[in-house]
Amino acid sequence: MPAPAVRLAPSILSADFARLGDEVRAIEAAGADFVHFDVMDNHYVPNLTIGPLVCEAIRPHVQIPIDVHLMVEPVDALIPLFAKAGANCITFHPEASRHVDRTLQLIRSHGCKAGLVFNPATPLAWMDHVMDKLDMVLLMSVNPGFGGQAFIPATLHKLREARHRIDAHIATGGQPIWLEVDGGVKLDNIGQIVQAGADICVAGSAVFGAPDAGGGYHGVMHAMRQAAAAADSTDFQPSSLTSRRTTPCH
Ligand code: DX5
Ligand code: ZN
Repeated sequence: MPAPAVRLAPSILSADFARLGDEVRAIEAAGADFVHFDVMDNHYVPNLTIGPLVCEAIRPHVQIPIDVHLMVEPVDALIPLFAKAGANCITFHPEASRHVDRTLQLIRSHGCKAGLVFNPATPLAWMDHVMDKLDMVLLMSVNPGFGGQAFIPATLHKLREARHRIDAHIATGGQPIWLEVDGGVKLDNIGQIVQAGADICVAGSAVFGAPDAGGGYHGVMHAMRQAAAAADSTDFQPSSLTSRRTTPCH
């Protein structure tokens, strides 16, 4: 059975924190591929959210991977704590780590998939010398710190460029790398985002702001998949299709 064209990672930043266990079970039941877990420290970004204890608390409620997005500085001390708390993927912002290569190795050494996150103004060149240590690349399509912001359109161009770099890496024998987008992803732009090369779409307010009558999220997630699939079926570039059928994160 072919893998889905896009993977959806609802961000629990927009969930009801008083009912977090129910919320993560609901997104898994609605077909989410990941739980996106936004960690903010009121230092690297001007907001404060959740840490390893909350990751550990939700871990038994779902089978799907927990995708931890660290918006913290410094980074390294939190990695073993999140790995122990059940994180499957850990991404961080390269500006927040003194030794990016070491941090990527540290994540993998704890059995997690590793990735870099690029703010809207952060150049993709940060990935140049660490391609072999990346399992995922996350492009921010808003400035990090808050849910519910508007998608920055220039991200589409940056996505195509990142897609090209990843495809070139794979074409020369490199490992698969997932391309993820985070911020302002909605039903009306997910098609363009997937067409520009995204493998994984994070969506916070779009998912948690649209519960079904029964409290689940089937309707919005199904609609997002349909919109993504419709756009993806118009993209016949063999290299991007090949790389989207890979599964570096499990
Ligand atoms: C922003 C976070 C995002 C955010 C996405 O700093 O990394 O994951 O929660 O939320 P929406 O989808 O509402 O833009
Ligand atoms: Zn995020």
